[in-house]
Amino acid sequence: MSKISAAITAVGAYVPEYILTNQMLEEMVDTNDEWITSRTGIKERRILRDVGKGTSYLAIKAAQDLINKKGINPETIELVIVATATPDMKAASTAAFTASEIGAVNAFSFDMDAACSSFLYGMSVAASYIESGRYKNVLLIGADKMSSIINYKDRATCIIFGDGAGAVLFEPNEEGLGLKDEYLRSDGTGREFLQATYGGSSFPITEEAMANGGQYAFQEGRTVFKNAVSSMADAAVKILERNNLTKDNVAWLAAHQANKRIIDATAQRIELDESKVMVNIHKYGNTTSATLPLLLNDYESQLKKGDNIIFAAFGGGFNWGSIYLKWAYNSINE
Ligand code: UT7
Repeated sequence: MSKISAAITAVGAYVPEYILTNQMLEEMVDTNDEWITSRTGIKERRILRDVGKGTSYLAIKAAQDLINKKGINPETIELVIVATATPDMKAASTAAFTASEIGAVNAFSFDMDAACSSFLYGMSVAASYIESGRYKNVLLIGADKMSSIINYKDRATCIIFGDGAGAVLFEPNEEGLGLKDEYLRSDGTGREFLQATYGGSSFPITEEAMANGGQYAFQEGRTVFKNAVSSMADAAVKILERNNLTKDNVAWLAAHQANKRIIDATAQRIELDESKVMVNIHKYGNTTSATLPLLLNDYESQLKKGDNIIFAAFGGGFNWGSIYLKWAYNSINE
């Protein structure tokens, strides 16, 4: 019997309608379109403004998009993982609510947080459940409402982040398609450079913390940038080398959309032509756990069965890595 691998067999996505442009940010903080565009590649990002709607709203919409496109019965889904750094609430899983709302009534579910690497790590977890033979339908959703932890008076963070969600379905495959290899790492000494500090057990929310903006994300951009460039590229190089992949047989790079310059640096290290690099940062900014599935959704019609895709991500923690996946289907839109 051939080995079971875990293939992505469907994709869905959702971004809120409201668009926050660079020009609008110029009115809010001391910044300008030229700086944001040249330093990050971002032109606009989507924001979920409706009061009372959280990350689950985005996750549910992305999952429903996948379910409708693929035409699956949600009752056949056995596991729902919501990769997110911004769950609806501290306790009571966002994934459980999402699963119930989409009608995945036979599934168990949990949230996973590895900051901007949540979806990448989630791919590893989802694939492991499939490869073990224990489950046959695993829905992995990457969703973040970053606007809920952003201070729109802090130009170091508010220009970068946006809200969105993407979903993928993992199913068993016996043709050798799907997740082939992974290189995942973390280094906790990096946590001081990128964090949303308050609200966790070490730093409960206090009136004083709130008054000082403790509820918001903070980053020392330059340090994060340097680490992201070297770590993401190193991880991608390792994955290429140990799988005998070169710029010629890699079809796509799907890299976390944090900064266009980081994406370009990673592509250059593996000598990949620009035409093979998935990019949508200009439209959505950094949506944290949603960047990779949003890329898959935007590029789905161009992906071919057998395409070698290199995923790479880097995020707070620090957490980073690279995954090699063979795409499993041709788009029905062809
Ligand atoms: O997804 C999780 C991981 N996150 C990341 O990977 C983010 C990594 N970091 C970055 O993308 C970049 O570091 C930023 C986009 C956050 C910042 O870009 P940078 O090129 O590293 O800028 P910088 O912080 O070194 O600042 C350069 C200059 C400074 O001015 P001086 O000191 O040279 O006069 C800043 O004060 O740019 C200034 N600056 C701004 N100017 C206009 C910083 N932010 C802004 C701004 N608009 N929004």
